[in-house]
Amino acid sequence: MTNLDQLLREAIELFNGIDNTVELEQAKARYLGRHGRLTELLKGLGKLAPEERPVMGSRINQAKEALEAALNLRRDVIQEKQLEERLVEEALDVTLPGRGLGTGGVHPVTRTLERIQSLFHSMGFTVASGPEIETDFYNFTALNIPENHPARAMHDTFYIDNDGKDGQLLRTHTSPVQIRHMEGNRPPLKVIAPGKVYRCDSDLTHTPMFHQVEGLWIDENANFSALKGVLGDFMQHFFERDDLPVRFRASFFPFTEPSAEMDIGCVMCQNGCRICGYTGWLEVLGCGMVHPNVLKHVSIDSEKYIGFAFGLGVERLAMLRYGVTDLRLFFENDLRFLKQFN
Ligand code: PHE
Repeated sequence: MTNLDQLLREAIELFNGIDNTVELEQAKARYLGRHGRLTELLKGLGKLAPEERPVMGSRINQAKEALEAALNLRRDVIQEKQLEERLVEEALDVTLPGRGLGTGGVHPVTRTLERIQSLFHSMGFTVASGPEIETDFYNFTALNIPENHPARAMHDTFYIDNDGKDGQLLRTHTSPVQIRHMEGNRPPLKVIAPGKVYRCDSDLTHTPMFHQVEGLWIDENANFSALKGVLGDFMQHFFERDDLPVRFRASFFPFTEPSAEMDIGCVMCQNGCRICGYTGWLEVLGCGMVHPNVLKHVSIDSEKYIGFAFGLGVERLAMLRYGVTDLRLFFENDLRFLKQFN
């Protein structure tokens, strides 16, 4: 029966050389499986002489038990080794310093809005506001933009489907707040109206939602030179440059007459760059003297009162102040970008 002893020795040697459970189960099958070597021996018992069977049977069973014991031992060893490996691999260094919660910060657009507001506040402007869902009337008609006027097409308006009720839309500019404010208040008026506006437009310099600050000053002598003074002062303070050049170009808005666009000397370059289109000038806002038709709409006597209005893009000013070249960065909320402002 050296045969059986040898088989046992061989098997145990084989098991002890294995260090993963899958291979161990395969090795087990070679001895104890349906066609395993020990199983075959058991099957062969029938061929032995009757008196030899119990002796041989019990020896085979002992061998089987020994094999199973060896297998279990090996299985434990392998599992313990695997556990140890995992513990080393997944070790946590509990002595590392914590990452902390961080303190959060103000979004660059909010920061810019606050800066604009505080500068105008120092010039005596208070803050007015109006709804972002506007009616056709306030967004266009009352601003001297009648139905079918080509200026409506310039605005890429988001209309709201509201079953034919007085046309509702997302305001395309903050100018409707001028009307709402003049309806509820009598001159002298001196307000700004910061807020969100919406246009169906999206590229490097346009997003469907952006911010504007509207300005309105109505008084007996709020004339064009006052307009130039207020806006020139504002830009110089905003960009912290006393020598910032400004200029006004004739333009057209239905609700102002005359109308102008204001340019400032490029704050990004000395002698021409991509941002200013190599002109040295940056367009920053639209403005003009409030049109008498607009005053008539809100029953303000245009013989007695005059005034000016302006509208500026907040993201545009933020981009210029911080040197950001892609407007969309402001709305992607990537912390790597936002953290730089706090
Ligand atoms: N509402 C105009 C625009 O969005 C800007 C503007 C405001 C122009 C006030 C003149 C006066 O383009």
